[in-house]
Amino acid sequence: MDKLDAFLDNLQNEIFEEARQALGEKGFQRWRNPRFGGRMENPDGHGRVTGECGDTMEIFLKFKDNRVSHASYVTNGCASSAISGSFAAELTLGKDPDELTDITDETVLETIGRLPEKDQHCAGLAARTVQDALNDYMIRHRDCKQ
Ligand code: FES
Repeated sequence: MDKLDAFLDNLQNEIFEEARQALGEKGFQRWRNPRFGGRMENPDGHGRVTGECGDTMEIFLKFKDNRVSHASYVTNGCASSAISGSFAAELTLGKDPDELTDITDETVLETIGRLPEKDQHCAGLAARTVQDALNDYMIRHRDCKQ
């Protein structure tokens, strides 16, 4: 390994250590291995919310027998918003509309375990986007029933 490689390795380790401190182990692991990311074709519910910070999150939900069978998210926001979107999408799985209304800022934050103080609103953005996707599902579902 040449000196530049060693320098870059060191730098990466420092960044990872800082991220681990800031995000906690669970958030750090999710940041390293993002899950549920990406757009979904023909979702049953689609939420799109822009937070006060200017970042936008989208949540896509697919339902089977009135319960979420697939979920995904995209965001153009910070690492904390990606982690929040990922956990929020995961939280929706298997839930019916009534249970989805229980997904709040606190639920997302509790599931992550920890976010830097300045990024806690990112969990709120994810929760609001889930509620927006649920709203979309309810509107479409109501139209289907008529
Ligand atoms: Fe905007 Fe995290 S979502 S700073």
